[in-house]
Amino acid sequence: SLSGLDLRAEIDRLRRERNAVILAHYYQKPELQDLADFVGDSLDLSRKAAETDADVIAFCGVRFMAETAKILSPTKTVVLPDMDAGCSLEDSCPPEQFAAFRAAHPDHIALTYINCSAEVKGLSDIIVTSSSAETILAKLPADQKIIFGPDRNLGGYLARKTGRDLLLWPGVCIVHEAFSETELLKLKALHPGAPIAAHPECPAVILDHADYVGSTRGILEFAKSFPGDTLIVATEPHIIHQMEKALPGKQFIGAPGADGNCNCNICPYMALNTMEKLYVALRDLQPKIEIEEGLRLRAKKSLDAMLTMAE
Ligand code: 13P
Ligand code: SF4
Repeated sequence: SLSGLDLRAEIDRLRRERNAVILAHYYQKPELQDLADFVGDSLDLSRKAAETDADVIAFCGVRFMAETAKILSPTKTVVLPDMDAGCSLEDSCPPEQFAAFRAAHPDHIALTYINCSAEVKGLSDIIVTSSSAETILAKLPADQKIIFGPDRNLGGYLARKTGRDLLLWPGVCIVHEAFSETELLKLKALHPGAPIAAHPECPAVILDHADYVGSTRGILEFAKSFPGDTLIVATEPHIIHQMEKALPGKQFIGAPGADGNCNCNICPYMALNTMEKLYVALRDLQPKIEIEEGLRLRAKKSLDAMLTMAE
């Protein structure tokens, strides 16, 4: 039994013994964010994974993020505290169907959101994250035909923002789909003048009300620089932990779902990781990410294209 263990002390001991680095996404529970060696958005986390000299990467995030770490750092042991930590965007894009979609549009390249399986990365030309998509898109010739998947909300946002015609795959993130425009407007009426910062995985009806749209890191930077004292945050609410730490005098309110509060916007996949499971993962070096080498090399090509073009 793990009861009676000082989990934080045990995790710190194992991290030293294993020469492990603990990476965490902003959507993780506060206690996991607080013990991580590095907390970041998807792009920063993949850069960290690519450059670390640790022997073990313990990834507090979802499976596609840990897979990305393994694809970029194949000689490292990559553990994910809960192997069931998937992603609804990944689930909405089965590789066989994506391959058929590509085959039906042979004159298009596939620009693909990092929230997808290694197989779909292997079927893509360039991976993007929400913080790198606009930079990468701007480097592609104006007449280049482009498939964008799996997130139709991010794709729609990019198409509106850049004026480019993107052929969209119809996937969504269940977390960002759950925000309610009606409840958001009610909340805004209660806090006149409070800006709204939103993640581009939100549908257009939410983004239309946003004063700032960007990745989790972008939203955090906006929170550190906006002049007022109250901010409405339309993304997974665990990111508010970093805002409250950095700006204890300000008020950060998670945008509501249809029930009027932000609990329904907690990512159920991210929430699977716990202190107990991280401890066991560092102790047993399980569950471990393994990717067949041919697949890894196919997926690495599109990820390398992102890391080069995002600079
Ligand atoms: P970013 O951290 O890149 O903004 O991604 C958000 C997200 O939903 C990850 O699953
Ligand atoms: Fe996937 Fe949405 Fe969870 Fe991010 S918040 S991991 S996109 S389900």
